[in-house]
Amino acid sequence: MTLVINTLESGDYTEQINKLLENNDFDIEIINTANMKIAHCMGCNQCWLKTPGICAIKDDYETIIKKLVKADNLWIVSDTHFGFLDYRGKRVLDRIMPMLNMYIIFRDGWMRHQLRYHSLNVGVIYKGKGDQQLLEDWCNRTAANLGGRSLGVLALEESSSQATTAEVAAMGISANTASTPEKIKNVIIINGSPRAKTFSNTNKIIQSFALGLEEAGVTHKLYSLSSRSEWDEIREAFMTNDHIIIALPLYVECVPSFLLEFLATLPTERVRPANISFILHGGFDEGHQLRLGEKFLQSLPAQLGCTYGGTLVKGGSFMLRMRENEYIKRMTDKVLDAYIPMGKLFAKNGNFMFPEAKSFTGPEQIPWAARQIMAIALKRIVNRKFDNFAKEWGCTRPLDDKVYSE
Ligand SMILES: Cc1cc2nc3c(=O)[nH]c(=O)nc-3n(C[C@H](O)[C@H](O)[C@H](O)COP(=O)(O)O)c2cc1C
Repeated sequence: MTLVINTLESGDYTEQINKLLENNDFDIEIINTANMKIAHCMGCNQCWLKTPGICAIKDDYETIIKKLVKADNLWIVSDTHFGFLDYRGKRVLDRIMPMLNMYIIFRDGWMRHQLRYHSLNVGVIYKGKGDQQLLEDWCNRTAANLGGRSLGVLALEESSSQATTAEVAAMGISANTASTPEKIKNVIIINGSPRAKTFSNTNKIIQSFALGLEEAGVTHKLYSLSSRSEWDEIREAFMTNDHIIIALPLYVECVPSFLLEFLATLPTERVRPANISFILHGGFDEGHQLRLGEKFLQSLPAQLGCTYGGTLVKGGSFMLRMRENEYIKRMTDKVLDAYIPMGKLFAKNGNFMFPEAKSFTGPEQIPWAARQIMAIALKRIVNRKFDNFAKEWGCTRPLDDKVYSE
């Protein structure tokens, strides 16, 4: 079965969608989400560690997940913003976590989560101006995470168009023009994670990074998007400050839908361009897993009337969530401490264009021999540790439980 999730806000596009997919051999079912209640994934991890396969958010997404379990192909129909899926389209994908389970394996040479059910192919139909290459790369990577292949990236209508080469170049222009080092006095840091501040790994990373800033005499003010009541104040700070860092976790290969929603509310013109730098981190260790997210971030500041100050990229942040555990705390102290010198160097340069920021990422992929050893360690030790954490969280089911019938 082919499930088409149409996340467009208005308009009836059934005819166009059917026409685009007329060569598809499978039965097609279209779900329109315009009148459905679908919240953003808040990264609580309950669908992996407390109630395996069941999302903690009780809204209309459960209807979708039950259908996804029976589907072979998923097409996501989405409007675009910043050349990528808009927050409504991305939101549906961020909520797909219950289709995977907590256990980590190597598949095709990359760390991935085990599939809870069967594999799923993924395609994108976009409206508006999409960065075709970015969307294709994202679709490939997302499908691979779900054990499937990309079905392709199609424009919904003639007026939907690929951003032209010149436009894409313009979006990325600031990525290639390293800002000159600038002594800064103050910076605002926005935590772009939807996860509540107390539990957010991004927050822990920011705290360490800020120690480095402080040691170098740079003050900072921290804002967290997770509390929506602060969005007005954060927008105001965004518009009135010249040095901005957005720190964020990777969510399904790119920016969390929650952050996309906030970004969509920002004015695109300002009196003076601010310099925006990013701290991007993700669960898996390999640097390469974060590169598509980085590519998206490179093109973002120019689209907000700002300049790009580089991205500090690092994987391996998942376990920070479990620092209440003494063993994990010791294991992850080093991860956090490494951000302190980065804060100092940022204070000196005013951006992440310095060479130490590049080497900070570490290996792009884990070498073959190390993968063989790690695969055994994952199976025998790490995944068993996850079973123990789950018990501590009050989980009574196996982590690879299949809750819905295929
Ligand atoms: C919905 C969702 C999607 C995620 N997708 C990815 C991913 O594609 N690649 C990755 O390496 N980590 C991924 N992660 C892991 C987070 O990036 C990681 O756990 C991060 O430390 C969370 O930071 P936070 O606590 O500040 O939200 C994902 C987490 C969630 C909840």
